Amino acid sequence: MRLILFTFCSILIQCDKSSLSGGENQYTEWKHYLGDPGRSHYSQLADFTSKNIKSLKVVWEYESKDYGQMQMNPIVVDTLLYGVSSALRVFALDARSGKEVWVFGDTLKTLFSNSRGVSYWESGNDKRIFYTKGSYLWALDAQTGQPIPSFGKGGKIDLRSGLPASAQEKFVISSTPGTIHKNLIIMPLRLSEGVGAAPGDVMAFNVITGELTWSFHTLPRPGETGIDTWGDLNISESTIVGAANNWAGMALDQEREILYVPTGSAAPDFYGAMRPGKNLYSNCLLALNANTGKLLWHYQFIHHDLWDRDPPAPPNLITVNHGGIIISAVAQITKQGYVFVFDRETGRPLFDIEELAVPESELPGEQAWPTQPVPVKPACFARQSDKLTTEDISPYAPNRDSLIAVFKKADIRNFAPPSLKPALLLPGYDGGAEWGGAAADPHKGILYINSNEMAWFLQMRSNDDKGEKLTAGERIYRQNCAVCHMTNRSGSQASGYPSLLAIETRLSKKNIYNIITQGKAMMPGFPHIVEKDREELINFLTDKSDNKKVKEITETNNKQPYVPFHHTGYSKFLDQNGLPAISPPWGTLNALDLNTGEYLWKVPLGETESLRDLGYPTTGTENYGGSVVTKNGLLFIAATKDGYIRAFSRDSGKLLWDFKLPAAAFATPALYSAGGKQYLTVACGGEKLGTKKGNKIIAFALED
Ligand code: HEC
Repeated sequence: MRLILFTFCSILIQCDKSSLSGGENQYTEWKHYLGDPGRSHYSQLADFTSKNIKSLKVVWEYESKDYGQMQMNPIVVDTLLYGVSSALRVFALDARSGKEVWVFGDTLKTLFSNSRGVSYWESGNDKRIFYTKGSYLWALDAQTGQPIPSFGKGGKIDLRSGLPASAQEKFVISSTPGTIHKNLIIMPLRLSEGVGAAPGDVMAFNVITGELTWSFHTLPRPGETGIDTWGDLNISESTIVGAANNWAGMALDQEREILYVPTGSAAPDFYGAMRPGKNLYSNCLLALNANTGKLLWHYQFIHHDLWDRDPPAPPNLITVNHGGIIISAVAQITKQGYVFVFDRETGRPLFDIEELAVPESELPGEQAWPTQPVPVKPACFARQSDKLTTEDISPYAPNRDSLIAVFKKADIRNFAPPSLKPALLLPGYDGGAEWGGAAADPHKGILYINSNEMAWFLQMRSNDDKGEKLTAGERIYRQNCAVCHMTNRSGSQASGYPSLLAIETRLSKKNIYNIITQGKAMMPGFPHIVEKDREELINFLTDKSDNKKVKEITETNNKQPYVPFHHTGYSKFLDQNGLPAISPPWGTLNALDLNTGEYLWKVPLGETESLRDLGYPTTGTENYGGSVVTKNGLLFIAATKDGYIRAFSRDSGKLLWDFKLPAAAFATPALYSAGGKQYLTVACGGEKLGTKKGNKIIAFALED
């Protein structure tokens, strides 16, 4: 007992030291995306307790002029709160009242993607907010919201300015805030996941001038380490393969000056015949020298990814005690439901990882990698498809028998490679864990993970089935658009992808052209589809004659490199009521002790109201957006489809408080203190998972 106490004290002593040397009260402020550079989602503010939590009240609401999905995690500096609306307007509010101080950007629901927030940098009186819209990274004066003219050109740089010439016409944006290190901002990128994606270089720009300071090539150039993991492909010159970008954000160890960067899959996602090999540095955790971008160590989570299994969130920096030894660790949650834990300095895994033999591919040309890494510990925090039986088909499904028939036909093997037959992917494309990320008690080594349990189908189809004569437009469609809008253009409402049938009755050709070029909300843009091909594609989409007239595919009208197979469309395994076809839980919250690798508790997260009203137990729901954990025992999370924000006991998982939000919040809350008072805030944009749109940022506090 004495030994245990002693060890525990030494952890506390070590922690106090590290938080002091980390400087700037890093766990009582919310100056960084997800709270701190270690992405802990952690707060030492202690006014809210399990005793008074039921008295939390809404103390202010801010209404943006535009409505729609907001994924942003606000940051707070002194008394100003910074955030981004659905239409990518960036704003500063008085953090005590929610009163608008400034707004930058127009109110139109413009094309382009979502934003997860902004970054803050200061030196003396020079205080800057960095945010991205389209391919531009802007530097704004944090006090006035005005662009800083000396940064780049007129206050902005094009993120493509740091990329090779071949990427200048490509889709390059960023949804996740950059990481600030000294005078650098290191940028996540969102790129196409299809044919012709830009290379996902990790780029550090100077915060004063906007100049590129360093970049790390996640797709090695000739002569660089890792180039031999792509077969004979000269990956940096490829017009087909690209990406391996960090889109989920990074974590920074300020003291060690090491940046931890999870990288995405190589594109195109589901067919990799033209990129034989392990494909370094896709699907990796990279440890980079934050000053130079030099690679210190790496670990690859998926070799030759064929499932879009990219790490979905920034890793968490955490301190653990393994056999009495205190280790500074970095933990990466994954879509596939595993947590990988490494020594931050050496990259040594803290729990054993096995290379599991996995099935071969039957798709012509494809060579699936023969093994994939699976940690021996901790156990998976979500169910896996290969463990499912017919018993796991939802008891609530009215059409249970037909679902069982579908289930029996699907390939449920772990790491079943994409093929012409349907496979069931569980955890699905969005995890397991997703972009909200895990909360961590950085001192005590405990991780809080919210997870989805949704099975999705994975099926490929030829881009030129036997006997089928496709128009150039339809081929381009299958290659680029079918994965979301389905091969037959019906879309998938349940998955959030609109039908494109009869699109000509809703949108002009000009509108369609703009959407294809620039993207819209969660749809990426396709500026790299050449003009002539874009015309063919639009003709295919709007041709009322249903494309009976097959045009010759000529050199001039099919410029895009050809890939023989396409993904037939993201679709969830649902029952006839639109509920998941597998049994609950459909969403969970998990507390994982990384000192031991054991789970402390697991509870369903969220309610399916139709079933709750019939008296059934809590089902959990799909959820997007992370949690916030406090030192004094609380765990806050919104994220669920049912539109609640909740507080749980972090020790037991017991529900302590809930509140129905004006619209569902698919975003991570922030905890901050302003004017001596503690607040909890969250962005309620709804729109995802078929929920109604919202426009409010709301803040809770205890009444005086
Ligand atoms: C990664 C998924 C994805 C891909 C790939 C994709 N889209 Fe979309 N698309 C979407 C989503 C999501 C929306 C809805 C955007 C919104 O929230 O308004 C959309 C909307 C659209 C719309 C507007 C529909 C309407 O009724 O307003 C058009 C047109 C469209 N897409 C065309 C295309 C074409 C053509 C391609 C291929 C070049 C394509 N999309 C590829 C996801 C995708």
